Amino acid sequence: MNFFKSAAVLIGVTGVAGAATLGFGWVHPGADEPHSAPVYALLEFARERGIAVRAEGIEVPALGDPEQLKRGAGNYASMCVACHLAPGMSGTELSQGLYPAPPNLPAEAIRSPENAFWVIKHGIKASGMPAWGKSMDDPYIWDMVAFLQAMPGMTPEAYRDLVASSDGHSHGGGESMPHDHRDAAGEADHHGESSGDDAGAHDHGSHDHGAHDHGAAAEGPAAAAKTDDHHHDDPNAPPHAH
Ligand code: HEC
Repeated sequence: MNFFKSAAVLIGVTGVAGAATLGFGWVHPGADEPHSAPVYALLEFARERGIAVRAEGIEVPALGDPEQLKRGAGNYASMCVACHLAPGMSGTELSQGLYPAPPNLPAEAIRSPENAFWVIKHGIKASGMPAWGKSMDDPYIWDMVAFLQAMPGMTPEAYRDLVASSDGHSHGGGESMPHDHRDAAGEADHHGESSGDDAGAHDHGSHDHGAHDHGAAAEGPAAAAKTDDHHHDDPNAPPHAH
């Protein structure tokens, strides 16, 4: 009886504390305020276990043939670079602003192909990582896994050549987004991956247009719509064409 009484009291106290934590708004929802270490550890543990349990038993096909790497690189360049970066690239607005932060995939090897496949297909809740399985079939996801295995250690030049040799954004459906991923020459538009030597079109250093100037207060829909005139003060941000 005493045991049940204590348990009931404990549950009651925990419930009240939990409700107070949520009810008083003590949980900071902002992406610019990190979780406390115990909360982060708990969420990380839950995520890692959740992925590991579901990735177990996924059958990994042969990975690494040149055509597969090419397709993977083309799709990576159009869909993933803004968050996960490319060889030789420093942070982007998305990679720096997201919390949890997207891993720097050119620098970090993926832990296992099964794990990467599952994450790419299903995404990760309450993070910026989308579920690409909604638009990409499994073979295209494996292409990307093969590419992710090969990317760490790749030079920016090798990466650029691989993307240029690919068909760009192509995975048999879902990729017909409002923007065109290729330029007139049929080359993949690297979405921010560019080294800066072809920066003529975007010109980050000069503020002659000023339509989308991050220093200015107004960033309304009108400014957002004029993405071609995207300028800001960060000299490290890679140039990009939308
Ligand atoms: C809008 C930003 C965004 C885009 C675009 C994006 N990701 Fe992610 N991705 C994330 C974030 C954020 C995480 C980490 C989530 C976490 O830690 O909970 C992540 C995690 C991952 C991981 C897990 C890495 C690990 O070590 O567990 C892989 C693999 C991955 N992404 C691959 C991709 C691929 C491939 C693409 C393109 C098809 C892509 N992502 C596009 C934001 C993004």
